[in-house]
Amino acid sequence: MAIKFYEDKKFFSLTTKNTEYQIKINEIGMVLHTYYGKKVGSLDMSYLIKKIDRGFSGNPYECRNERGVSADTLPQEYPTDGAGDYRVSALKTELPNGSGTCDLRYRSHEIKSGRDSLKDLPYVRAESDRVDTLKLVLEDKIAGILVILSYQVFEEKDIISRYTVIENVSGGRIVINKAASACFDIMGNDPDFIHFHGRHAMERLPERQKVGHEIHRISSKRGMSSHHNNPFVIVCDRDTGELSGNCYGIMLMYSGDHAEEIERDQAGMVRVVSGISDDHFRWNLEKGESFTTPEVMLGFSGEGLSDLSFLFHRIIRENICPKEFRNVKRPVLINNWEGTYFDFDDEKIKSMMDSAASAGIEMFVLDDGWFGKRNDDHAGLGDWTVNTDKLKCGLKGIADHATSLGMKFGLWFEPEMINEDSDLFRKHPEWVLRDPGRDPVMGRDQMVLDMSRTDVVDYLYDGISAILGSADISYIKWDFNRSLSNVYSSALPALSQGEVSHRFVLGSYALMQRLRDAFPNVMIEGCSGGGGRFDAGIMFYSPQIWCSDNTEAINRLKIQKGTSYGYPVSTMGSHVSAAPNHQSGREVPFMTRAIVAMSGTFGYELDPRKLTDDERAMIRGQIDVFNRYYDLVHKGRVLRLSDDDDEKYYTSWGFVSEDKSEALLNLVVTDVRANPEIICVRIGNLDPDAVYEVDEFITSVQDAPDDASFEKKGAKGERFTGSALMNAGYAFDPLFGVYPSVMIHFRKI
Ligand code: GLA
Repeated sequence: MAIKFYEDKKFFSLTTKNTEYQIKINEIGMVLHTYYGKKVGSLDMSYLIKKIDRGFSGNPYECRNERGVSADTLPQEYPTDGAGDYRVSALKTELPNGSGTCDLRYRSHEIKSGRDSLKDLPYVRAESDRVDTLKLVLEDKIAGILVILSYQVFEEKDIISRYTVIENVSGGRIVINKAASACFDIMGNDPDFIHFHGRHAMERLPERQKVGHEIHRISSKRGMSSHHNNPFVIVCDRDTGELSGNCYGIMLMYSGDHAEEIERDQAGMVRVVSGISDDHFRWNLEKGESFTTPEVMLGFSGEGLSDLSFLFHRIIRENICPKEFRNVKRPVLINNWEGTYFDFDDEKIKSMMDSAASAGIEMFVLDDGWFGKRNDDHAGLGDWTVNTDKLKCGLKGIADHATSLGMKFGLWFEPEMINEDSDLFRKHPEWVLRDPGRDPVMGRDQMVLDMSRTDVVDYLYDGISAILGSADISYIKWDFNRSLSNVYSSALPALSQGEVSHRFVLGSYALMQRLRDAFPNVMIEGCSGGGGRFDAGIMFYSPQIWCSDNTEAINRLKIQKGTSYGYPVSTMGSHVSAAPNHQSGREVPFMTRAIVAMSGTFGYELDPRKLTDDERAMIRGQIDVFNRYYDLVHKGRVLRLSDDDDEKYYTSWGFVSEDKSEALLNLVVTDVRANPEIICVRIGNLDPDAVYEVDEFITSVQDAPDDASFEKKGAKGERFTGSALMNAGYAFDPLFGVYPSVMIHFRKI
C-alpha cells in the first residue's frame, strides 16, 4: 500500500516511486501539510514546523495559552476562511445565520486500494495502474460541514491526484463561495513559479518569476480554461533547470473558470491553491447535499523540468485520454479551413480530397460552414443540419468520397454556441445565456447556449448524433469560439445564478460523455479558437486539441514549447499551412513547416491543389517520416534544448525514447547570421555508455544538393557516445537560407 498512517505520531505518508507526501494531524486535530518532495523514508517531517509566537497570528481557542500554534502560520492541507488563517484559503462558506467562518478538524480516515470515479467530472483513470486512495474526513461540528479530502496515489506514475467533497450535514442551507480542489504549503525555500499566459493565436507562453510577497493569482473568468492563463503552474527552486532541480507541477483537470493562487507568507512558506475560480461561483448546498470539486494532479520531480513534464505527459496519455486512441496511430489529416474558409461546395471539397489522397494524407476534415445558413460567421450556429445548397451530394456523398479514396472523414461542430440568425434562436431564445432585459455581449457575432439546461444538452446530443449516424464520420473537431459573459440562466432562480458557470461546464462534459459513449471510436479533437480550452479536463474526452489558430511555424515554436511543459505532444494539434502564412504573412520553407508540425499530431491546413508538384511530392515523404517516428515523438521524453537567450537565434528541441534506444533532434534557425556562432546542444536523458549513430538527417536547406531526398551526406553514419552528446553536445554545421531547419535521428547501435 502506497499510503500509510502512523498512528503513534498521527501522520500519513503517501509514497510514489520517487516522491513522498505527508499529512500530519496535530494535537487539536488540525490537518497539516508537512512535506512533499523526494522520499524521506517516512520520517515524521513535522519537525520542520517551528512553533513561533508571531504577533497578530491568533491561536485556536484550545491553544490560547500556546501561542506558537496558529492557523496563520502552520502549513495547511485545506485552509478555510474566518478561523485565523489570513492567507489565501481553499474554502469559503456562508452559514444560514450569515457566519462566514469554517474551522475544520480531523474526524476520520479511510485507506483503500483502487479509486472512486467521479460521476460528472473528468478524473485520472486507474486503468491497469496500482492506485491507492486516502479519504480524509474533516469536520466543522458547529457549522455542520464535512469536508472529504480524497488523494489518489499513482505510485508508478509519480503522480498524486486530489479532489474535495463538501457535505452539508447541518439542518439548513449552506452557501459555498469558494471550493478549491487542493492546497498545500511548501516550507522553507524561496522558489520561482512558472505559469503559462497568452492570448488568442499566441497561447501558453511560459513566464518564470520569483514568488514574491504579493499574492500571485493565475485565473480565468471566461467560462473556459482560456488562451490567457492555463490551469497549470510549476513551482520550482531558483536553480531548477531542464535537467536538474526540484519542481512541483499543479494541473487542474477543469475547462471552466479557474484560479491558481500562490502566496508567500510572512515566514517564507509558500502556499499553492488550485481549483474553480471564486469569481462567479456561489453554490447552494441544501441539507444533505454534497459538492464535488474538479480533480487536480500534483507531480514532483527532483530531476528538473523535463522530467516533471514527462510525468504529466505520461499520465495524460495513459490515464486521462480515452483508451480508444491511446495505442493506435492517429491519422495524418488535412483540414480545409485555411484552404477555403467558408467558400466551398461539394465539387471543391471532392477535388481537394482527390489531391490530398494522392499525396498520402489519411483523413479529410471538413471545417466550419457545412450546416444551416452558415456562409460566413454571422449565421447558422445551432442549426446542425446539412446545407445541401453547398453540399449537393449531402454529407454522406462527401464522406463516401473520402472513404472511396481510402481516407477517413471528419467534421467540425461548435456545439455550445448559437447565432442570433439561426432557426434555433428564433425557436428558443430562452436557451441563451443572457441577463433579463439586457442585450448580451456578442463574440464573433455569436452567443452561448445555456449548457446548464438538460433540454439544451438533449437537443445538441440528438442533433450531433443524427449527423454522426448519417455518414461514415471518424472525427469531430469540437470548437468553442468565444468567452462567456452575461452568465445567467433563465431556467434557474436568482439564488442559483452563481452556479451557472460550473453547471455550464458540467453540461458540456455531459454532452461529450454521452457522445463518447454512443460513438466511442469517433475521435474528438478539442478546439477553442485554437487552444483556448487546452486543459487536462477536455483531454478526458478528447486525445488531441487544436493547439493554436496560429499555424505559422516560427510562432508555433514558442506555442508548442510552452504547451510541452505540461501537455504531451500527442495532444497538440499541429498542421502545415500555406505560405505566406495567413496569420503573420511570414514565408517559411515547406520542410521547416513540416518539421515543426511533426512535433504534434501532424496534418495539413491548406488547399493541396495550390501546392507545387515538388511540395505535393514532399508530403508523402513527410508523412512517412512522421509515421516512422510516431512512437518516439508521441511517447518519448520531450527535451527543450534552447532557452530564451538561444531563441533569439535558434530553437532546438528533441525526443528520447523511454528505453533510450533512439532520439530525435530538431533545430530551426530563426535568425540566420553571416559568419555564425556554432550551435551546440546537449541532449539529455541518453544512455551515457551507449554509441548512437545518425541514421537519418533531414533538412529544409534548399541549396543542399541532396535536399530532395532529405539527406545530407556526411552527417548520416556519424557516431557519438551517449556521454559525448550529453556532456559536450551535438554541434550543428552552419545553416543558411530562410528559416533553415534540420531533423536528425540517432539510433543506439
Ligand atoms: C476556430 C478554429 C479554426 C476554425 C474556425 C472556424 O477559429 O480554431 O480552426 O475551425 O474556428 O470558424
